[in-house]
Amino acid sequence: MEITQKFNGVYEIEGHVATENLNQGTKVYGERLVEIEGKEYRIWDPRRSKLSAAILNGFETFPFEEDSKVLYLGASAGTTPSHISDISKNGLIYCVEFSPRMMRNLMDVCNERKNMIPILDDATKPKNYMNLVQKVDIVYSDVAQPNQSELFMDNMRLYLKENGIGILMLKARSIDVTKAPKKIFKEEESKLKTHGFKVVEKVKLKPYEKDHMAFICEFSF
Ligand SMILES: C[S@@+](CC[C@H](N)C(=O)[O-])C[C@H]1O[C@@H](n2cnc3c(N)ncnc32)[C@H](O)[C@@H]1O
Repeated sequence: MEITQKFNGVYEIEGHVATENLNQGTKVYGERLVEIEGKEYRIWDPRRSKLSAAILNGFETFPFEEDSKVLYLGASAGTTPSHISDISKNGLIYCVEFSPRMMRNLMDVCNERKNMIPILDDATKPKNYMNLVQKVDIVYSDVAQPNQSELFMDNMRLYLKENGIGILMLKARSIDVTKAPKKIFKEEESKLKTHGFKVVEKVKLKPYEKDHMAFICEFSF
């Protein structure tokens, strides 16, 4: 099987995106495991993870390093956070999730991955978890709420290190189902700019996710 490196910790295996499994022999969401030259890789499903979809769609600003600290908003059951945990194996992923049901599944993943820290809290109230979260290199937000841009910006202001990067997985339909997604993307982008955030890259997530756009942002403090 042929394997090439796409980014730090991200590989391409026969047209699929993959990460090296930090927790050998264990799956997180039923993903395929592949062994190549004594190493085990997890195939990263773009229909289950927007970050994998963005990579397949040409995402260029890939900021995750082996020791990155990441604040992940909307961690759900840990699907995407687990792949980031593979990549940033010597870093930390603070996983904020407000649904107790999802948190139960997330806890199982965090118990097996020492670089993932579960936080049961509301991402619209970032001050709540100030005693748990340090400054981070990356704020990643995947929270399907009407105020998703605002909560992303609030968390960036509070937790992002200088020269850090923010990734916002914007779901147009959660902001307004009656408006054209294209219009919403424009409005949300200008909202980010007005508040001092620089959009460095935009990637549509079609055909893996409908009406979604990944915004990659910097913030000048
Ligand atoms: C689209 S899912 C996230 C999927 C996940 N990011 C992944 O790729 O594996 C959105 C998650 O955000 C959570 N959520 C919604 N509003 C939230 C809030 N205010 N604070 C924290 N989590 C929230 C939901 O419970 C849900 O689990």
